[in-house]
Amino acid sequence: MKNPNRTAAIRRAAAMAERGESDTIIVYNSSNGATMQYAAWLSEVLECDVVNYNRKHLAYVSLYKTVIFMSWVRAGEITRLMMLRQNYDNFNMKEKNLFIVGVGIGPAESEAYLKRLKYRNSCEDKNLKFFYLPGKYDPDKVKSVDKASVYAMSGTMYEGLSEEDMLTMKERFDKGYDGLDPDNLRSLVEAIFLAETK
Ligand SMILES: Cc1cc2nc3c(=O)[nH]c(=O)nc-3n(C[C@H](O)[C@H](O)[C@H](O)COP(=O)(O)O)c2cc1C
Repeated sequence: MKNPNRTAAIRRAAAMAERGESDTIIVYNSSNGATMQYAAWLSEVLECDVVNYNRKHLAYVSLYKTVIFMSWVRAGEITRLMMLRQNYDNFNMKEKNLFIVGVGIGPAESEAYLKRLKYRNSCEDKNLKFFYLPGKYDPDKVKSVDKASVYAMSGTMYEGLSEEDMLTMKERFDKGYDGLDPDNLRSLVEAIFLAETK
């Protein structure tokens, strides 16, 4: 991925070199690889540490100043976000730059969809750094357990969504969808640079 903000990147790299370390970590939770791909692209740009989610890895966040939590959306829920929330005080999150990033196939351009996603995940606070990235769903390649869950959850999956957003999602589940693009990380990268150089 090309660096979207070269001046900020150079300033940041100098500050990091001075300290002799990166103080940013990405923790990601991915079932079928889309979130993992975004995490890999982002870590390349930020030159930061990146770990997949598990309880032990999650605890690493307490050692970093900037934490980027990226996870896939399942029936409206940003998976594993609750685990981070439950440990908010343990990990001293109040003192950190926290970015929460959801990855899903719901329409990223729909204000209503994003509003619902934030509400569903208690991320409505304006001070919270919340981002949403278009993911990927290939009905022929996803884990069979995930495909079965899509059908099993179809009763609750679309609760609170507009008719239009629901139809978009249903079509993407049926025909497949691939929104993966490193360019989608642009505004997130800029926000991270800004927060780190403050
Ligand atoms: C069981 C299931 C439920 C899902 N529910 C939603 C949802 O509510 N909203 C959404 O935007 N995407 C939903 N998705 C799509 C995934 O979030 C999307 O495929 C994402 O890119 C998966 O990320 P991953 O490849 O890192 O696992 C769902 C997918 C599955 C398998």
